[in-house]
Amino acid sequence: MSLRTRDLTVRFPGRPAPTLDHIDFEAADGSFTVLVGASGSGKSTLLHCLAGLLAPTAGEVVDGTRPVTEPSPRRGVVFQRDVLFPWTSVAGNIGFALHALGTPRGLRAERIAELLEMVGLPPSVARERPSRLSGGMRQRVGIARMLAGEPEIMLMDEPFAALDALTRLRMQDLVVDLWSRLKRTIVFVTHDVDEAIRLSDNIVVIRDGKLSTHIANPLARPRPPDSLADLPGYSELRRCLHHQLEKP
Ligand SMILES: Nc1ncnc2c1ncn2[C@@H]1O[C@H](COP(=O)(O)OP(=O)(O)O)[C@@H](O)[C@H]1O
Ligand SMILES: [Mg+2]
Repeated sequence: MSLRTRDLTVRFPGRPAPTLDHIDFEAADGSFTVLVGASGSGKSTLLHCLAGLLAPTAGEVVDGTRPVTEPSPRRGVVFQRDVLFPWTSVAGNIGFALHALGTPRGLRAERIAELLEMVGLPPSVARERPSRLSGGMRQRVGIARMLAGEPEIMLMDEPFAALDALTRLRMQDLVVDLWSRLKRTIVFVTHDVDEAIRLSDNIVVIRDGKLSTHIANPLARPRPPDSLADLPGYSELRRCLHHQLEKP
């Protein structure tokens, strides 16, 4: 499913300049778009509008052909900090999404094991409380919970920013693997240029609430982290992104 915005503007009360300024953004069906920008540039605000969590001041978000007016499991969201319920187990957390979807109780345990496997976790994790898991495992559970809603579109807001470098690379591999297997649309937000290069088909730079042009990522896949810099087109793309992010 495609997701786009038409002339999207967001103004927060008490702020002189709009936080998002006439944004026309499009993520084509099945594409992997990375939105890259400095802290405070409006990335999360845009993602919240795409998710239906924030109503724009003007303009609209369109999911396929339907205007977005509220959140929906069709557009799954993963945040930087995991938002798992601390009072229940991993199974309870994922089961909550399955309940919302209407999955019969008797089928949930099997589906939970399947979802955990998809994100590379053993079935035994289902019994654990989120507080007992590492940051990387909690983000995997967050992704499993999003997948439980059978989303057409996956929205990710700096989901790996708080993880150590090695875990982060593994999580990037997981997301690319899920994307290529499930063939869903992904919009992924980051402030990290190398993460954008490793993951994306298309890169969109955001600066002070305005979008620059789409940049098609020319790098072939797979993109192993230890030889990313050897792939044809890498240096040029990196230079271009830094230039776009830094120009006055
Ligand atoms: N609810 C809000 N009320 C007022 N200002 C906000 C609100 N949410 C975000 N902002 C401001 O909008 C700007 C963009 O924020 P954000 O979208 O979170 O940026 P990013 O995710 O790129 O770091 C920041 O200056 C931030 O302070
Ligand atoms: Mg943000």
